[in-house]
Order: sequence, then C-alpha cells, then structure tokens
Amino acid sequence: MKDRIKALCRQRNAVILAHTYQSAEIQDIADYVGDSYGLSVKAREVTDAEVIIFCGVTFMAETASILNPGKIVLIPEPSAGCPMADTITAEQLREFKAKHPGAPVVCYVNSTAEVKAESDICCTSANALKVVASLGDVPEILFVPDRHLGRFVERRLGRKLICWDGCCPVHDRLPVQVVKDMKAKYPGHVLMVHPETPADIQDEAEHVLATGPMIELARKSSDGKYLVGTEDGIMHSLKCAAPKKDFVHLWGGLRCPEMKLTTMESVLRSLERMETRVQVPEEIAVKARRAIEAMLRVS
Ligand code: 13P
Ligand code: SF4
Repeated sequence: MKDRIKALCRQRNAVILAHTYQSAEIQDIADYVGDSYGLSVKAREVTDAEVIIFCGVTFMAETASILNPGKIVLIPEPSAGCPMADTITAEQLREFKAKHPGAPVVCYVNSTAEVKAESDICCTSANALKVVASLGDVPEILFVPDRHLGRFVERRLGRKLICWDGCCPVHDRLPVQVVKDMKAKYPGHVLMVHPETPADIQDEAEHVLATGPMIELARKSSDGKYLVGTEDGIMHSLKCAAPKKDFVHLWGGLRCPEMKLTTMESVLRSLERMETRVQVPEEIAVKARRAIEAMLRVS
C-alpha cells in the first residue's frame, strides 16, 4: 500500500501533508507532518509539486488551498470535519460583531473559511499569544471559536477577551480527576497539555503547548519522561522526535474520530481518482487569505 501511494505521488507530482493527530501509518507516508501552524507555513511553501494531499480535517485543507491557490488540494476524507469549527457560522459571527462594533476579531484556524473571511486575523494554538499581543491596546477583542484557548490567552496576557462559547469536544471532556490520578501514578513525568483543554486541566500542567511546540520541547528539553495531554496521534510524532524518551498518554478518550477517518485506503483512492478537490469560492478565499496572511506576518 505504501509503495503504491508513493508511486502514485510521483506520477501525480503530489506531496502529502499530515497533521500530528493522524494515525502512525499516515504520518509515516507523509512528506511533512506538523501542527496547524507548521502545516499553514508548509502549504504556502509547496512550489515544485502540483498536488497537495492533505491528511487532516477540512478546515486545514481549506487553509492550504487558500494559501496556495495555484495547487490542486485533495482531501482523502472530505467528511472529516471539526466539531469545534462548526460551533460558529459566518452569520453568527456577523451578529457577534454587530454587538461589539469596531472590535477586532481573532479567529482560531479551527474554523470554516467563511468565518475566517469575517475575521481580522487568524491564530493557531502555537501563536495565539503573539497574535493577540500584536493587536495593541484596543478596548475590546473578539475571540472565536475556542473558549478554552481564549481563556488561556487571557490569563497569560492579563487582558480580557470576549470569547465565543465553542470548544473541542475531544479535549473538553478530559476529566480533571484522570489528570490528578495519572500525576500521582507517574510522579516523575512532566505533564504537558494542549490549550484546548479546560482551565482546571491547564492548571495541573507544567506546560500548556500546541502540538508542534510539544514535540520541540520533547526533542530539546533535558527531561526524559512526559505525560501527554492531547489527541493520541501525537504519541507517534513524539516517539519519532525523541525515541529514547518515555511518553505516557494521559487518557484513552483523547482521540479525535474525525482525524482518524483518513486511512491508507482513502489516501490511495484519493490519488487514483484525484478526489476530493478542495475548492473555496474565490470571494471567500480572498477575504480569508487576508486574515491568515495577517497571522503569518505576526508569527
Ligand atoms: P494544533 O496543535 O495543531 O494547533 O492542534 C489543534 C487541533 O486540534 C487540530 O485539530
Ligand atoms: Fe477539531 Fe478537536 Fe478534532 Fe482538533 S481534535 S479536529 S479541534 S475536534
């Protein structure tokens, strides 16, 4: 299967980009594996290939297509969505803005292209602090859709945000008691969690980090043992980055069913049939690109 995928990639002049939450076998066939921020940067840099096979969820493939409009972007599983992104529509965002005239909108990339198009600047979990800080001293800032990431930024920067009430159902349901029990069971392990987890979970952790920075930390830090509080796909990325270190996943419930829809079969089918092409309507893409490019200028 791997050989057939690689041969078809050569034939189609395609590269495979994959998020760190993808399964190990998908990560292993990818040309690049990264977090949402790294994937945005990488998508823009794809120059030689004609086709990008995006293994992740729809908002990520849309972002790649918006940033690199000259390329064919294919998503092997077009039904792979993000429930957090679906907590806000463009219409709801327009109503939210109307209640706070003049307030800039910071939009987490886990959002639809239509919502990005209504926003001033995007952020990922890796650069949210920098992005919000870049707005300077404005009286009000709207932050959509993740309330946990929004609260994380508020607490770190000491400034109030007006947050949309969305969240990631995968990270949101991590019970704090599980975290306490695991800390008691693994007292020598450093706990890192994603900022999509609730505040009481973040309070238990030594590090609150996006997935890319988690991998960087594991690679560079002198600590050898970690408890990992994010989606389980990252365990493969961590083990590849620091094979001699010990990583313990915090909880089996941290598994995103949408991320796991992509399989080797669906990647192969996608290459064979050149399906499913991501196409963001031009008028939406132009506006969404402005918000994503604004983020890339800051970080
Ligand atoms: P990142 O660490 O890539 O921002 O992950 C967040 C996420 O949930 C992707 O779906
Ligand atoms: Fe969306 Fe959460 Fe899945 Fe990421 S892990 S794609 S935020 S549901």
